[in-house]
This record gives sequence, C-alpha cells and structure tokens, in this order.
Amino acid sequence: MDKFPFARRTNWLRQPNALNKELEGLEKRGIDVLDLTASNPTSCGFLYPPEMLQALNSLENFHYQPDALGLSRAREAVARHYSRQKLFLPPDDVILTATTSEAYSFLMRLLVNPGEKVLIPAPSYPLFQFLLEINDVNFDYYPLVYDGQWHLDLQALEGLVDARTRAIILVNPNNPTGSYLNLAELDYLNGFCRKHQMAIISDEVFFEYSLFSADAVSCVGNREVLTFVLGGLSKTLGLPQMKCAWILACGPQGILQESRSRLEIIADTYLSVNTPVQNALGAWLDHAPQIQEQIISRVKENSQWLRAHLNDHTELLSFQGGWYATLRIPAVKSEEEWVLEFLRETQVLVYPGYFFDFEREAYIILSLLPRASIFQEAAGRILKRLAKI
Ligand SMILES: Cc1ncc(COP(=O)(O)O)c(C=O)c1O
Repeated sequence: MDKFPFARRTNWLRQPNALNKELEGLEKRGIDVLDLTASNPTSCGFLYPPEMLQALNSLENFHYQPDALGLSRAREAVARHYSRQKLFLPPDDVILTATTSEAYSFLMRLLVNPGEKVLIPAPSYPLFQFLLEINDVNFDYYPLVYDGQWHLDLQALEGLVDARTRAIILVNPNNPTGSYLNLAELDYLNGFCRKHQMAIISDEVFFEYSLFSADAVSCVGNREVLTFVLGGLSKTLGLPQMKCAWILACGPQGILQESRSRLEIIADTYLSVNTPVQNALGAWLDHAPQIQEQIISRVKENSQWLRAHLNDHTELLSFQGGWYATLRIPAVKSEEEWVLEFLRETQVLVYPGYFFDFEREAYIILSLLPRASIFQEAAGRILKRLAKI
C-alpha cells in the first residue's frame, strides 16, 4: 500500500495474535469450539418478551423532533427506571447516547484536553485503552487489589494524580472482577476528586446484576463532586443491538448545569440516538425485571456449579455481581500458553487475564452467560485439564 499520512492515533498493530490464529485454524478444520468468552446475551438463549416489539409499531416514529439530550419522555423513563431501585434523579439530568462507548467519548470531549489524562482501573474493561486513545486522552492505571475481596488501592491513587488528571473512571461493579464500590471508597473518592478538581465517571452498566447482598453503592445522586454515571440497554435489557445508553449527571448545582449545557452542544453535533428506540424506552424498561431475572439466575447457576467443581489447583476469586468469573490457575506456564492449550486440547475458549490487565499471571476469565449445559461441559473440560497438573 502507498504510504499515506493517516493520523498516528490509528497506527494500531492489527496482526492476528496466536489465539486468533488458533481459532481460525480450528474453524477451517470444522472443529466446534465451546465459547466461554460469550458476552452477547442475545445469543445465550434468554427469552425476550415478543410484546416488546409492539412498542416500535407506532406512527410517532414517522415524526422527527430532534432533541440533543434525548426526548423528554425517554429521559423520564430512564429516571423512573432508577427510581424503582430507589435511586433518584431529575429527568433533566439524564442524557441519552447511542452506546456507553459514545457516552465515554462525549465525556472525554467535555472534560479532557488533548494530552491530559484520566485514571482507569486495572484489571478492568479492555476497551478503555481504545476509547481513550481515539479521544487523544492519556491514562494511568490505578490498581484494584485482592485479599479475598477486591478493593480500590486508595493509597496508590494519590501517587498517580498530577495537575493534568481530569477524571477517574470507576466500573461499578467492575468487569471482570464483579466487585462493587463501597461507601467508604466513595467517601474517599469524593474528597480526592474535590481536592484535585477531578470528575468521577462511574460505569454502572452491570449495577443491577448483583448476585449476593453486597454493600454496593451507586454513584447516582452523588452531590459531592461532578459525577457521571453510565448505563444502557446493552446490559439493563440484555439488548446491545438497540443502541441506547445514558449518562446520569450529578454533582454541585452550578457545575452540573454548566456540564449539561456543554454536553447538549456535543450531543447536538451528532444527534445519534434514534427516535423509535426513544419512543419505546418506557415500555421496554418495564420488562427489565423479566430479562434480568433470567440472566441473574443463569449466572448464579453457572457460578454455583463452578464453585462446586473446583479442584486444588484452581481458585475462584470472590465476586458480587456482573457476568464473569475469575479463576486463579497455576502459573506453571503463561496465561497465553494456558489459553492456547485449552483451545487445542479441550476446544474451549476462555479469556486470559492479561486481556483485562491483571497485574500478575495466571488468571482466566469465564463468561457465566452460556446455557448451563454448555457452561458445564466447557468449564468441566478446563477443570479436568487443570486437575492433571
Ligand atoms: C464495563 C462496560 N461498560 C460498557 C460496556 C458496553 O456498553 P455499550 O454496549 O453500551 O457500549 C461493556 C460491555 O461489555 C462493559 O463491560
């Protein structure tokens, strides 16, 4: 290809890694792989109430009335959905976006100049690196530490912040560790962000998937510092293809008002949320309990099975919510070698811990979404292989 001066931010390494190559090879040979990385709920056998589709069958959808922050009835529906969880905020503080990824982009445009930075958790959601680099935002990782439970390493935070740090991103509960923020941590973060003039961005897409009674705290309604909570249909209804997410803004009144006004102009530049979904949102969110109960019961069943079948070489790390299980396995070989071996010898695909920036080896991450029969067969093969060490 002729040399063309593409923007440096797109100079990604795009060669397939060893795992992709192995998968491709198996596919070519017609060998079925059991996928324990499956995280798309629409292919895991959940029942979505067909009457949800009727909400799209409305003449209103032929009428376009652009509203940058979202149609008021849709924003009211989101506020009502949270009020059912005893989390209260005015509909004016709900800002609709097409996806959570888009919400991150809007917030980076609002809060961070090129070359400034945000703090992101490790281990956590692998997409952050791309989302931030695309927005010319630098980042530092702050550690989550495990001592039988996951915690924020509050001491480490102070050493990471400098005059260019604009925000801290929390994932609550975190993906993949399933750990929630607690009240003491939120208190600390409020003081920390006030002192350093930083905003909190709390990604709470999995918040409703709490598996055990945890002392979980949401950042919705946090008035201490400028705070943006993210959620969306991809997890709340298990429907990522519907492309509707939201930012819930909260914080001290003056800067909150100013943030909304600035976000309105950012959102007005794209007007990306489609009208039919906004019109259907109220009716759809009424179905959230029906869909969430199925997902929670699957995740519980799979995690109970896993716990009951562990062996001496495998530790299931404690988690309170979300859709994933983290296993610590013997570091007698690298995570990459383990994951390739599982694929070759057992035809099961799992995530290696490094994918989520775990600090040490060796961890593997299993999605708890697959049907119980598939999960048990696949996880059973992995555990059998690990028992042979
Ligand atoms: C922490 C976290 N945030 C956001 C998302 C994706 O949300 P969306 O589909 O709305 O971009 C995911 C998807 O797995 C996630 O794990």
